[in-house]
Amino acid sequence: MSRIIAIANQKGGVGKTTTSVNLSAALVSMNKRVLLIDLDPQGNATMGCGIDKHEVEKGIFDVLVDGMSVNDAQQKAAENTCAVLAANSDLTAAEVELMDMDEREQRLNNALQPVRQDFDFILIDCPPSLNILTLNAFVAADSVLVPVQCEYYALEGLSALLETVEGVRESVNPDIKIEGLLRTMYDGRNKLGVEVSAQLIEHFGDQVFRTVVPRNVRLAEAPSHGLSIMEYDNTSRGALAYLALAGEIVRKLARAVHTADEQPAAAEPISEAASQSERKETTGDVTTAESANPSSSGVAESPSSTGTPEQPLNDTESVNG
Ligand SMILES: Nc1ncnc2c1ncn2[C@@H]1O[C@H](COP(=O)(O)OP(=O)(O)OP(=O)(O)O)[C@@H](O)[C@H]1O
Ligand SMILES: [Mg+2]
Repeated sequence: MSRIIAIANQKGGVGKTTTSVNLSAALVSMNKRVLLIDLDPQGNATMGCGIDKHEVEKGIFDVLVDGMSVNDAQQKAAENTCAVLAANSDLTAAEVELMDMDEREQRLNNALQPVRQDFDFILIDCPPSLNILTLNAFVAADSVLVPVQCEYYALEGLSALLETVEGVRESVNPDIKIEGLLRTMYDGRNKLGVEVSAQLIEHFGDQVFRTVVPRNVRLAEAPSHGLSIMEYDNTSRGALAYLALAGEIVRKLARAVHTADEQPAAAEPISEAASQSERKETTGDVTTAESANPSSSGVAESPSSTGTPEQPLNDTESVNG
């Protein structure tokens, strides 16, 4: 079964691209077949995957505007990395060209249908706005993963985002779910960050991933080398966090499929069914991340369901790598 996840938040700089690139790499390291779609004209995910955005000859623009097949447009920076539909500033023109097209919000969805079974996961790195590109992602996606930086205005933009997802659910994509809210760039020494994290849990409960991504300088360095964190430093706290997140997502999905198999008539929506069982298994059990990821220490996955991440996130290593 394949899963298409849009990684979105119209707020800029919250960790969408970092999450897209490194979650893709973490899933690849778990032997999953992954396609990463760079849907942002900034081309940061493209660069982060080691593909020079200034030399993109084919990519998501060709798929959306010219109808090129995903198979023809995808590329890989290296063996053992994910497939990429690359982007650069040309994609800004796609926004304009799409406006005159029929079924303009369906273009990505239509393009992905013939290939979706070739991948276990298709991740879409969205631009920092709720524009036609993001809408294409929401129409194609099974779920939306929302990176949230735990700071003062974090909650403010969330309602607009969730309303947009709700609008898409009510119109073109009734099955779209919230995959989860992911706390990023977390620094446990920052009192405000801790408070916002607790507020997120209070408001969104089980929809918040247990995994917390710490502020980690290795995550910020990796893109300048065109490498994911798995290639750049797979023992860093950033790498462990994204491995834990990949494990959390894979386990949720496995449980949802299991539940659906056992009780087809009473199958719950994936996000609800999975997150409920996720919470039940957790409290105090940091080893859950290890079972899916032998290489992960599980430290990045908060064992607390109260919203206050554990002490290991607070040490100076999270800053120095
Ligand atoms: N956990 C982290 N620790 C340290 N630095 C991080 C972390 N996550 C992201 N960054 C850095 O923060 C900056 C913004 O991250 P990123 O580009 O992933 O955000 P974004 O939401 O994709 O931004 P945009 O909205 O512009 O597309 C980048 O310089 C990135 O390297
Ligand atoms: Mg980005």
